[in-house]
Amino acid sequence: MKPGYSLMKHYLQFKDLRAEEYAYLFERTRLIKTRFKNYERYQPLTDRTLAMIFEKASTRTRVSFEAGMYQMGGSVVHLTTGDSQLGRAEPIEDSARVISRMVDLVMIRTYEHTKIERFAAFSRVPVINGLTNEFHPCQILADVFTYIEQRGSIQGKVVAWVGDGNNMANTWLQAAEILGFRLHVSTPGGYEVDPKVGGISTDDCYKVFANPLDACRDADLVTTDVWTSMGYEAENEARVKAFADWCVDAEMMAAAKPDALFMHCLPAHRGEEVAAEVIDGPQSVVWDEAENRMHVQKVLMEYLLLGRIG
Ligand code: CP
Ligand code: NVA
Repeated sequence: MKPGYSLMKHYLQFKDLRAEEYAYLFERTRLIKTRFKNYERYQPLTDRTLAMIFEKASTRTRVSFEAGMYQMGGSVVHLTTGDSQLGRAEPIEDSARVISRMVDLVMIRTYEHTKIERFAAFSRVPVINGLTNEFHPCQILADVFTYIEQRGSIQGKVVAWVGDGNNMANTWLQAAEILGFRLHVSTPGGYEVDPKVGGISTDDCYKVFANPLDACRDADLVTTDVWTSMGYEAENEARVKAFADWCVDAEMMAAAKPDALFMHCLPAHRGEEVAAEVIDGPQSVVWDEAENRMHVQKVLMEYLLLGRIG
């Protein structure tokens, strides 16, 4: 750890960082991304190791953390439930004590958020949430950076959330409160966002709409996610019926501002939560969004290990 930087931070929820820390991270990401695009070597994490623990499937999270860590000069250890003692009932607290004596940083994708909290409580090194049932902060970090990159500040803007009141929705709510934008939320009955999950105490930063078209009206950004998140597969049949009208289509995009963007954390199901003409259309920035996972996470890892640079 850099001399003078001793306060260990975890990144388990979006609200774990303050608005001014986000301002720094977004500015720094712009620089780190530009340097990367110019093939400039930048390896501040030489000899540092990231352990990545996956209890659920992943493409983007794995590739972005792994490639990002190697680019910064470090290395990674990849663990899954099936190939470690985590799947054989070793207590999470014991796993945390052991793993965090050998690596410098841990990224975890798991089920209940309490599980990552328990790991963090016994970890000697920073822990990053790579998705839990309740939150997906690294994704919203990338999404907000992508918005800023394309359109400038997100403060005062309207983001429409169409779909499930899931981990992404909870995290968007926290981001709205911290970064000063409004979330227009439309979910089917029974799948509402519970603001208490993210610790949101007032309704200043969000508004609920029964009709998804109304949520999209005059929005600066329209975003959605799968109808059935990982871990909820048993509910798939009921969800397909309940979510039938929550497909982001051309009509919803037409109700948004003319320069509105469309985002989706991916993987996507064309014809379910989003029409092909929207996700593959000119307002969609989903590929930039996916790429930016790597750039923002490189900066997040640098920040958690070395603090502010410059
Ligand atoms: N968006 C996201 O987290 O993708 P993966 O599930 O592929 O990691
Ligand atoms: N809400 C989805 C996001 C996947 C990246 C899930 O949890 O499966």
